[in-house]
Amino acid sequence: RLDVTESFHGISFPGHLHTQESLESAVKFLFKDTDVLIVSYPKSGTTWMQEIVSLISSRGDPQLSRSVPNWTRAPWLEQYYCSAVLEASSAPHRVITTHLPYHLLGPALQGSKAKVLYVSRNPKDVVVSFYYFHKMANFLPEAASFPEFLDQFLQGTLHFGSWFDHIRGWTSQTAAAHRLLHVTYEQMSLDLQGTIKRVSSFLQRPLVDDEVNNCVKHCSFSSMRDNQMVNYSLVPEQIMDHSKGSFMRKGEIGDWRNLFTEEQNQHFVSVFTSKMQDCTLEFVWE
Ligand code: PPS
Repeated sequence: RLDVTESFHGISFPGHLHTQESLESAVKFLFKDTDVLIVSYPKSGTTWMQEIVSLISSRGDPQLSRSVPNWTRAPWLEQYYCSAVLEASSAPHRVITTHLPYHLLGPALQGSKAKVLYVSRNPKDVVVSFYYFHKMANFLPEAASFPEFLDQFLQGTLHFGSWFDHIRGWTSQTAAAHRLLHVTYEQMSLDLQGTIKRVSSFLQRPLVDDEVNNCVKHCSFSSMRDNQMVNYSLVPEQIMDHSKGSFMRKGEIGDWRNLFTEEQNQHFVSVFTSKMQDCTLEFVWE
């Protein structure tokens, strides 16, 4: 079976890509000051940010984005193949991705000048996207019914752990001491051009307008949906069952409205309100 679980510090990870060894070495990783780290809870816009960073590095030229899979351009730190990919890379700036929570990765970042791009998305859309992803991803546990799945999400027992811990950790005071830019899925969606400019200036790689426009063009939902290097169509059927959904599913803000019942929404809001009580982040829900 593919959906073996690797448990690490009480959090479940898909065992086909994560091992105790790969997780251990992730939390002890030696960052370089030139590293760019993309951090997200799953389904928050990870792939989109990987594409934005790739395109910024190439000044809007899509050649690399169309010939090298995203997991080679920006490998996941905690997955077993990461070190091999990084060793083989000749890129001047390593781009690394992670879904790890701050309490696990923060210590490794301590004292480093690596640049961190934290990507978040409103959690109602995260849970809906994650739910559909469980249907097609054979390396995740069989998707429960949506009400059960929603409960697991709110309790923080899904693979990759609690969304609440993730966002609270990475947006905490301690995390703010790093070179960190917080970008939301909704900002990318509502102002892609402005977001690309913000990311490029954070990465100290300013672009001229034509270059920004090329980035915008090549990381639009339709360009990415049709790009085999990011739409996961290269992943074999037994790992991702493409007859059960697509990775580039809808790409919208507010799709939760199509799945949540009024009751589920009320329950969500009450759990959210209590868990995020002292948190000043603003979310865009639709
Ligand atoms: S993963 O598995 O954690 O890497 O997934 P992640 O990339 O974080 O999230 C996948 C969702 O992001 C949407 N997506 C986009 N939306 C708009 N525009 C662009 N360019 C784009 N690229 C990816 C993707 O469709 C998933 O969201 P849903 O809501 O399921 O469509």
